Amino acid sequence: MRSLMSATILDGKALAARMRKTLADEVSELTEKHGRAPGLAVILVGSDPASQVYVRNKKSACANMGIESFSHDLPADTTQQHLLGLISELNASPKVDGILVQLPVPNHINPDSLIEAIDPGKDVDGFHPYNVGRLAARKPALRSCTPYGCMKLLEETGMDLHGKECIIVGASNIVGRPMALELLLAGSTVTISHKFTRNLCSHVERADIVVAAAGKQGLIKGEWIKPGATVIDVGIHRLEDGSLTGDVEFEAAAERAAWITPVPGGVGPMTITMLLANTVDAFKTHVGDA
Ligand code: GUN
Repeated sequence: MRSLMSATILDGKALAARMRKTLADEVSELTEKHGRAPGLAVILVGSDPASQVYVRNKKSACANMGIESFSHDLPADTTQQHLLGLISELNASPKVDGILVQLPVPNHINPDSLIEAIDPGKDVDGFHPYNVGRLAARKPALRSCTPYGCMKLLEETGMDLHGKECIIVGASNIVGRPMALELLLAGSTVTISHKFTRNLCSHVERADIVVAAAGKQGLIKGEWIKPGATVIDVGIHRLEDGSLTGDVEFEAAAERAAWITPVPGGVGPMTITMLLANTVDAFKTHVGDA
């Protein structure tokens, strides 16, 4: 079949590999200079299969670049009090530069109270209100990994983001909201749509940049994409045949877009890369080498 695709693929896998190579060199220099490796503590509560995969990937990415990871795999009935105690120990540990609580946590745990208990200087997910506030106030400190990774992908296009019309589909704390703050900081005009938004199509149609982060497979129709737009798909859904797909109708969108991220191989590899970058940044701050 003749491919109608006109878009250039924004290859997150390749960009992530380049960035990880540079980071690995930096980690080895820093480890030699300061006599210890950057350390990341990873807390997983319960046995959600997707979370187990994400945590395994994060730990192996650390191992591949010389970042030490400390696993805290805890049963689903772990109490909030126990978790707060653990976070407090990790906050005080001189070997730990980053602390990550894999989300979601079981229903009896309040995720916000855990996030707020993390020392903001060790909040390598960038979820603590201090770090979100710093981004909102145009003084970013540790930045949320997925939006930060999306910004690195947008940089690859070489486009000037000033004045660009952006639609972010989805207003979650971990993607949509910090993504809006990133694009605002970069000088774009930002709209966030969410479950109460009427006529989603009308917002997508006028966007130069579409960031799809709704968590709904195929929500964004290819025919809505403005010719020449850039499409960043944060969605990830497993189909019955085992393959992965996103929130955007990829084939149809790629006929109109100038740039588009694939799923898999787009945003996903960048999210982990930015976690590693944040851990190295936190380390540098902790050892006074920032
Ligand atoms: N669950 C889904 N995405 C994320 C993420 O970026 N970080 C953490 N800690 N949990 C998640």
